Amino acid sequence: MNFNLSEEHKMIRDAARDFAQNELLPGVIERDEKQHFPDELVKKMGELGFMGVMVDPKYGGSGMDTISYVLIMEELSKIDASASVIVSVNNSLVCYGIEAYGTEEQKQKYLTKLSTGEFVGAFCLSEPEAGSDATSQRTTAIDKGDHYLINGTKNWITNGGRADVYLVIAQTDRDKGSHGINAFIVERDAEGFHIGPKEDKLGIRGSDTHTLQFNDVKVPKENRIGVNGSGFRFAMKTLSGGRIGIAAQALGIAQGAYELALKYSKQRKAFGTEICNHQAIAFKLADMYTEIEAARMLVMKSASDKDANSNYDKSSAMAKLYASKVAMEQTVEAVQIHGGNGFVKEYHVERLMRDAKITQIYEGTSEIQKIVISRSIIRD
Ligand code: CAA
Repeated sequence: MNFNLSEEHKMIRDAARDFAQNELLPGVIERDEKQHFPDELVKKMGELGFMGVMVDPKYGGSGMDTISYVLIMEELSKIDASASVIVSVNNSLVCYGIEAYGTEEQKQKYLTKLSTGEFVGAFCLSEPEAGSDATSQRTTAIDKGDHYLINGTKNWITNGGRADVYLVIAQTDRDKGSHGINAFIVERDAEGFHIGPKEDKLGIRGSDTHTLQFNDVKVPKENRIGVNGSGFRFAMKTLSGGRIGIAAQALGIAQGAYELALKYSKQRKAFGTEICNHQAIAFKLADMYTEIEAARMLVMKSASDKDANSNYDKSSAMAKLYASKVAMEQTVEAVQIHGGNGFVKEYHVERLMRDAKITQIYEGTSEIQKIVISRSIIRD
């Protein structure tokens, strides 16, 4: 196994790093404070190829591998996890979902715009009573011949207020359980589709999270993804890839906090020396560095599994479980190293600490990742 990045991967990483430093950093505190969605930045990320990283160039994508994707996700997340979750949902859930399972018509109509940033996508699975327990969907999609009629509510939908295209998972035949679920492409201007108020969140406040209401929304049959009844497996497979993106996001948050803590500890003096010279701080830095490197190995392993067309359900769950734990723990340490300054917005680490928490919740809580991992090791 080669642990070194290729020259091409280094160039991709550096391009994302430059963009994050020059474009994301300047307004990140204000966007967090005002819960401001970065429309202009999404456009620029589209131009740089970050909105369709792994999509085939014939559909407007960048045609890169998953390793490139996690490098981009890490760099963006070091500075602005709100921007990176927009990228993650668009790439891993929406673009991947349509490219891997959609028809040629769906790819031409939607993927070509999603992969360039002209469209933004959202993935609608969670419901008020079906977050972790994804088979218990209440949203229904009734077959009416040439169309389906969708009714129900979806919660905590990332990009919910800004998306142009929504992938909606709904129950078409309750008696068939997970085999009675389908996925649909719903357009923003569909009649009966309503966007509820924006959630006021602890972290990733520059991203856009809403409840969505579907009241007799008519969806043409050609907008169903895959064969009848394949929606649950579609959602699970898509989420496995999504977990690689969120694991990389968690890694970036942790790495960003670590870099700030290291820099601060080399400048701040106490008891006659820079605080990094005190063993209490030096040992914290050693632990942070080690934990983050271990998380990076798991993230890279899951990305290389996907690139090798190996099964990545288990490795992506492991990467997300571990990297999100590291992000939470190490951002707390970064705040601690900063002392009182760590509690102040201009030092950035308090935002990274708030942003870290969601990585243990969305695209499956840590408990869900343990279900996926334990089932896999017991079965194998
Ligand atoms: N790939 C393909 N098929 C899969 C699969 C996978 N990764 N995982 C399960 N399946 C299949 C199973 O093989 C099974 O098929 P058969 O009936 O033919 O045997 C079927 O799906 C049902 O599987 P399970 O019995 O394992 O299903 P379960 O009800 O026990 O649920 C679970 C398993 C892992 C807990 C699952 O419900 C889950 O992952 N829940 C969490 C959902 C989640 O991540 N939600 C986050 C919302 S999206 C989000 O956060 C996006 C955002 O905006 C940021």
